[in-house]
Amino acid sequence: MTALLPSDFRSDTVTKPTDSMRRAMATAEVGDDVFGEDPTVNRLERMAADLFGKEKGLFVASGTMANQVAVRAQTSPGDEVVVEARSHIYDYELGALAALSGVQARPVQSEGGILEVADVARAIKKPGAAPTAATSLLVLENTHNSHGGRVVPLPRLKALYELATSADLAVHLDGARIFNAAVAHDTPEHAFGEVCHTLSFSLCKGLSAPVGAVLVGPAETIDRARRVRKMFGGGMRQAGILAAAGIVALEEMVDRLREDHALAEALGARFHRMPGVTNLRPVETNIVVFDLAGEDGIAPRVEKELAQRGVLAFALGPRTMRFVTHKDVGPEDAERAVATLREILD
Ligand SMILES: Cc1ncc(COP(=O)(O)O)c(C=O)c1O
Repeated sequence: MTALLPSDFRSDTVTKPTDSMRRAMATAEVGDDVFGEDPTVNRLERMAADLFGKEKGLFVASGTMANQVAVRAQTSPGDEVVVEARSHIYDYELGALAALSGVQARPVQSEGGILEVADVARAIKKPGAAPTAATSLLVLENTHNSHGGRVVPLPRLKALYELATSADLAVHLDGARIFNAAVAHDTPEHAFGEVCHTLSFSLCKGLSAPVGAVLVGPAETIDRARRVRKMFGGGMRQAGILAAAGIVALEEMVDRLREDHALAEALGARFHRMPGVTNLRPVETNIVVFDLAGEDGIAPRVEKELAQRGVLAFALGPRTMRFVTHKDVGPEDAERAVATLREILD
């Protein structure tokens, strides 16, 4: 930490690419990926599919594009999609479910982002029964961003997957931070691939690549998703420059997520003891979420005051703050964050 530089806990998306990524990008072998001829993209897609035990992968520009391509490839206009009520795909993707796929979302509330099987069962509608929309897709999120990086346990994912498949629904797992879940619960990645049809993960969050996400799934679905990606304007040409960093991300950046989790846990423990901090959510991965005692609007005010003193965090709601740990913040930044928040709340 340098006093002049801000300590940036807003998101793990602020991470800069590593030297190793920059070298890989500079020397990447490339081709036209819209023609399927970029060897580096092809390699990344193969690696990703193998990791999660899926037939094919598709490199896309962002986590949002991965989610939206997955939805469009697995639904028809007028369908209903069951989502967790505070999921990223529902809250933070600009209404894209409706705008890009013509589907309507059926939000289901949950405790801590972990959906109950019975609640999802109640939300599923059968085609033909009364003039209601038919449910064709269930979207799950793991780790759950707005619920403080909570890990949805594998047995619950499995139960939801079994329910969905028995009702002829496809399951998309928004695993923007699936590697955080894998590391936190010591779960092999392919186990997550077994509880969904498609899965997307981000390369540019904790894994620190500059750009990109990958969608993996059955060959037929991914072939359809490739056409949708082009339709959404996401067909990239010499994208191997970007995929090269993604390969380094998978090879070199997964295990170190444990460091982010340890820092988040330490930060959470310090905030927990701080007067004025309430309702700290369980810290399971790299996200720390808590409320501030006081009136609505306190969190945006504190966000501003923190920023003026060189600590960047994010007001998730009128009283809710979020701090995210990642490779570009360390223990000194955490000390600074704790001391600065204490000063402000005092
Ligand atoms: C759970 C989740 N899904 C999807 C996304 C979207 O990723 P992107 O910002 O790359 O579009 C995010 C971004 O924070 C996220 O947290």
